[in-house]
Amino acid sequence: MKHIKIFDTTLRDGEQSPGVALSVPQKLEIAHGLARMGVDVIEAGFPITSQGDFDCVGRIAREVRGPVICGLARTHKTDIERAAKALEIADQWRIHTFTSASDVHLEFMLKKTRAQVLEISEEMVKYARTFCGDVEFSAQDVMRADFDFVIQLFNVAIDAGATTINIPDTTGYGTPLEYGRLIARIRDEVVRGREVSISTHCHDDLGMAVANSLAAVENGATQVECTINGIGERAGNTSLEEVVMALATRGDYYQAATQINTREIYRLSRMVSRHSGMAVQPNKAVVGDNAFAHEAGIHQDGVLKNKSTYEIMNAEMVGREAGVLVLGKHSGRAAFKKALEEMGYDLSNVSNDHGLSEESVGALFTRFKEIADRKGAMGKEELRSLVETRDHTIPEVFKLESIQVLSGTHVVPTATVTLATPSGPQQHASSGDGPVDAAYKAINHLAQVFPSLESYRIEAVTEGGEALGEVSIRARVGEIIYSGNGVSTDIVEASARAWLEVINASLANVGVKKEAMQAI
Ligand code: KIV
Ligand code: ZN
Repeated sequence: MKHIKIFDTTLRDGEQSPGVALSVPQKLEIAHGLARMGVDVIEAGFPITSQGDFDCVGRIAREVRGPVICGLARTHKTDIERAAKALEIADQWRIHTFTSASDVHLEFMLKKTRAQVLEISEEMVKYARTFCGDVEFSAQDVMRADFDFVIQLFNVAIDAGATTINIPDTTGYGTPLEYGRLIARIRDEVVRGREVSISTHCHDDLGMAVANSLAAVENGATQVECTINGIGERAGNTSLEEVVMALATRGDYYQAATQINTREIYRLSRMVSRHSGMAVQPNKAVVGDNAFAHEAGIHQDGVLKNKSTYEIMNAEMVGREAGVLVLGKHSGRAAFKKALEEMGYDLSNVSNDHGLSEESVGALFTRFKEIADRKGAMGKEELRSLVETRDHTIPEVFKLESIQVLSGTHVVPTATVTLATPSGPQQHASSGDGPVDAAYKAINHLAQVFPSLESYRIEAVTEGGEALGEVSIRARVGEIIYSGNGVSTDIVEASARAWLEVINASLANVGVKKEAMQAI
């Protein structure tokens, strides 16, 4: 079996999704999750674009162990220096420098001739090598470029010291057969094409990113660049979970394998969806709500007799345990802690990325009891949602004590909210356009913080009428965007909890100001 490296770019290309801005704690949480899942490379960001991105790449380089940590840089000296500075603290790091290959990019974006691009690429790959032995070189828009120029460019880059050459189909233009052939030609016609890693980077404009990446693997690529849930510029990138599960399920055909712990996939998918505010479509392969659901009677009958009748992989392989009941309303603290430990949380080491402090466990247990009292029992997914919808690093300056709402067809929606505040419990009632709006106004009044809502999303954690509702929002305070999550049996309460997380995050200053990527 050929080893395929998984290069995750959720934190760089994924964050370029319209409307997505991840805060530093969110990026760190995702990076730790990716490391636990076993990706080979994490592209942590594009350090030249902002001080925030530089600092965040630096923190990931310092704190995340296991994968190679990579930073993006144009073929500019300052970009490369900035990337090297942010990354140098990592155990293993990579500079990823890129230019463009197509004439349309050269003429309108770079405003350079082919000869100039060749010269600059050679010089900048050499320069990057003065900082780091692991240098990746990309040429954007290869699918629409002149093939002879592409070969020249990669020859130059390898001779200058590139250790990985990346072949981006930046605009998602290629078809699988075409892109696969292109990769084979690069492997065979670039003089030292077989001495370096050949990487694929596909966009999903025509819905072919995963198929194209797999075609590349069939034709010699040894690295796949991808993102969790396929998020990214425009229609997104190759989706990590689909490529990984295609290789895991059809290793017989591809004769290739990754080192990914597939049982971490679902958890990462939920985490990225929650933090990015981007819902996963129900029929999305591998991670969508319906991916393992059987509706037709004939299918249900088959699956009940033997799962393999209609399932080519099972839900457990990607970490989607069936709603196994773990705890009920009579469960005590010890059983609660044991369940958390069984789910992989570390209660003995808070500094561990998966660690929970005694205080957090205490607060979670109180919430668990409140919910279990109303709901009766909670499954693993619900417990996980309870733990992971709350950012345990943000101090709870304001905390929800109670909420009461009055709403209906012929009444003005009103919410009465009681918060625990630094000066004791405070209560306020407000009216609004709906019960959620009324609750937000009451909270704003009590906290004297006035965020404006940018996006709001609600999802049921599990199936069925008794499911917990998980609310994810993004809201702006001044220039900064904050995200918040809340979970409850009551969707207004879940919404209020998410809003309070935004307010507490704004007080702790852990938001993100999304700065536009500099023009190339
Ligand atoms: O799509 C693309 O071409 C990129 C490069 C920067 C690798 O994201
Ligand atoms: Zn891209």
